[in-house]
Amino acid sequence: LGDVWLNFQSTCAIIKPNAVAKGNVGAILQRIDDEGYQIILKKQGTLSQEMAAKFYEEHETQPFFQDLVDFMSSGPSVVLELQKKNSVSEWRKLIGPTDPAEARKVEINSLRALFGDDVTKNGFHGSATAEDAARELGLLLGSAGRKLKSVDRRYHNL
Ligand code: PPS
Repeated sequence: LGDVWLNFQSTCAIIKPNAVAKGNVGAILQRIDDEGYQIILKKQGTLSQEMAAKFYEEHETQPFFQDLVDFMSSGPSVVLELQKKNSVSEWRKLIGPTDPAEARKVEINSLRALFGDDVTKNGFHGSATAEDAARELGLLLGSAGRKLKSVDRRYHNL
């Protein structure tokens, strides 16, 4: 299938409940397609409190932890496995800074600038590292993901 396939890396993206509630999923999926991502898996549903707490366990001691868990389990999200070259860093760039107000200052076309409300209801999640992506995709989608970082490792999984 050519080198383009061999470069793909997985990331875990979430369209959070506020962005779903506003009816923006169609426009967001179109943007994801336009930006050259392959949607490998897509699952829509409401996270349980337990699942949200496990997902964000690294932030357990933060003062915002309970607000974050409550928000993430407040309504349906769309969880995606996305693949693209360097998808982990590219997706974080596309969504923009954590705080949508900051996102509007640095990149008005970032997804958080366009669809985020505040630092909790910020519209989107993106894995911080390839290792995080593997953990998150396993937890939410039962997927092994793909950590690929360069063309040195050849995959033939079709
Ligand atoms: S990290 O480790 O760089 O991803 O951390 P960060 O971007 O700072 O934030 C991690 C997630 O915590 C949420 N967050 C907050 N929620 C509520 N209140 C406050 N003040 C707050 N600060 C950060 C933020 O939405 C991040 O969620 P994700 O899904 O990882 O983007």
